[in-house]
Amino acid sequence: MPEIPKDRLPRHIGIIMDGNGRWANNRGLAREHGHERGADAVRTTVRAARKIGVEALTLFAFSSQNWDRPPQEVFHLMALLRRYLVEERGEILDNNIRLVTVGQTHRLPEYVLEPMTDLMKASADNDGMILCLALSYGGREMITDAVRKLARAVAAGTLKPDDIDTRAIEAQLDSSRMLPPLDLLIRTSGEHRISNFFLWEAAYAELFFTEVLWPDFERANLIEALHDFAGRERRFGLTSNQLDDARADGPEEPEAP
Ligand code: FPP
Repeated sequence: MPEIPKDRLPRHIGIIMDGNGRWANNRGLAREHGHERGADAVRTTVRAARKIGVEALTLFAFSSQNWDRPPQEVFHLMALLRRYLVEERGEILDNNIRLVTVGQTHRLPEYVLEPMTDLMKASADNDGMILCLALSYGGREMITDAVRKLARAVAAGTLKPDDIDTRAIEAQLDSSRMLPPLDLLIRTSGEHRISNFFLWEAAYAELFFTEVLWPDFERANLIEALHDFAGRERRFGLTSNQLDDARADGPEEPEAP
């Protein structure tokens, strides 16, 4: 496949890693095996994204709703997360990757928080790529938290209700402080849903759905999504002619309304 020009690459990719359970089911295995192979696909994908030159990769690893799964599965996912953080520490640091998280991470057990906080601190100055893990994450929950903070500021008299606009809400989201705008949202396993992932952030993201189950997701699947993305025209609510004019005027992309 021809190489994708740097200016046609997404700066920030988000992935809804779906299909671990079905992958295991198809083989007569327990769901946990699917998650383990899913963690291998995480390793492959992080490595590929870093090599390709993506600025930021966010992986939807555990949703706010996933806490309601059977306790044994939740425990296994938490243990897998800890193992990933411990085992990948060296590779993440060697490759100049910065680890960040979004979500209600205070709900995570200490045995996950400890290696996670340690790696976030150790990698804080890295600038090769941002790896963001969405953990105990819910898009609605994040927007609700942001709005609550603004409501508190109004109650305290430091913010006027009329000053609440989209920028004010966005400024309260951790994603907007730590990550470039979301350009491409990939979901595996043939489902066509956002499932409470980056609800706000996905407003102008390009969506890419693949039938591939997450444990089978490989570098070639990522490259396929990138080629698809490179061929899309992103209009941000404008017309094609307006985009042509804006391009003729300078390199800046038009701002989303
Ligand atoms: C969705 O598949 C996947 C999850 C809820 C967990 C994702 C976790 C991993 C990929 C592994 C651990 C993560 C890291 C970062 C090391 P599903 O279980 O809903 O699959 P199904 O829809 O086929 O049942």
